[in-house]
Amino acid sequence: MRALLPVGLYSPNTAVLQDDAITLRPLAPEDAAHFEALLGPDAEGVAMTSHLPYPLSAAQAREWIVLRTGPGGHVFAVIDAAGRFLGTMGFGGPKDGVPGFGYWIGLPYRNRGIATRAGRLCVAHARALGVKRMVAETFPGNEASARVLAKLGFRRMGPVDRHYPLRGGDRVLNLHMLDID
Ligand SMILES: CC(C)(COP(=O)(O)OP(=O)(O)OC[C@H]1O[C@@H](n2cnc3c(N)ncnc32)[C@H](O)[C@@H]1OP(=O)(O)O)[C@@H](O)C(=O)NCCC(=O)NCCS
Repeated sequence: MRALLPVGLYSPNTAVLQDDAITLRPLAPEDAAHFEALLGPDAEGVAMTSHLPYPLSAAQAREWIVLRTGPGGHVFAVIDAAGRFLGTMGFGGPKDGVPGFGYWIGLPYRNRGIATRAGRLCVAHARALGVKRMVAETFPGNEASARVLAKLGFRRMGPVDRHYPLRGGDRVLNLHMLDID
């Protein structure tokens, strides 16, 4: 299946993406401290992610980052005009040829349109790499995330069965899909 994927998806992620409010630069292992600071007090936020442990240490965050920033990973740090680290956004880990899209924004910075802005930059970047389709999954009740995906043009595809040991094992999530023209 890899041979069918755009070559750009496997080139190193060195892109810097910007709009008039935020900058996305490649996520780095050193960003683990920001994960610990922002997600440490946010059990509810972490519970909406599939692969972040809670409580979360910087060492665990570093491992998470390293796993997602190798070949095929296009995951970014979201930074504001003051240089503050707000969260992460990106795509990668193609399954059956389709990259998965994921993100989190720190609790103090939510509901200001940050994820939507960052998502638009990421989708444009994926398009430039030749990506034709992406998928995302949301836990039931994560209406903020479902709303972000809808604003980005993802369609709700229905329930999917998943096994996420850190989130209690067998879970039913909502699948969302974006076709990129
Ligand atoms: C999901 C998340 C990334 C959204 O980030 P954000 O920067 O706050 O998102 P935005 O401000 O761009 O958009 C949020 C939208 O959700 C809406 N929203 C927020 N809480 C909501 C709720 N409880 N019910 C319905 N809509 C809600 C907001 O009103 C906004 O929509 P609008 O622009 O139409 O008003 C953030 O909440 C988060 O990090 N959550 C924890 C981790 C997580 O869920 N990650 C995604 C896993 S799939």
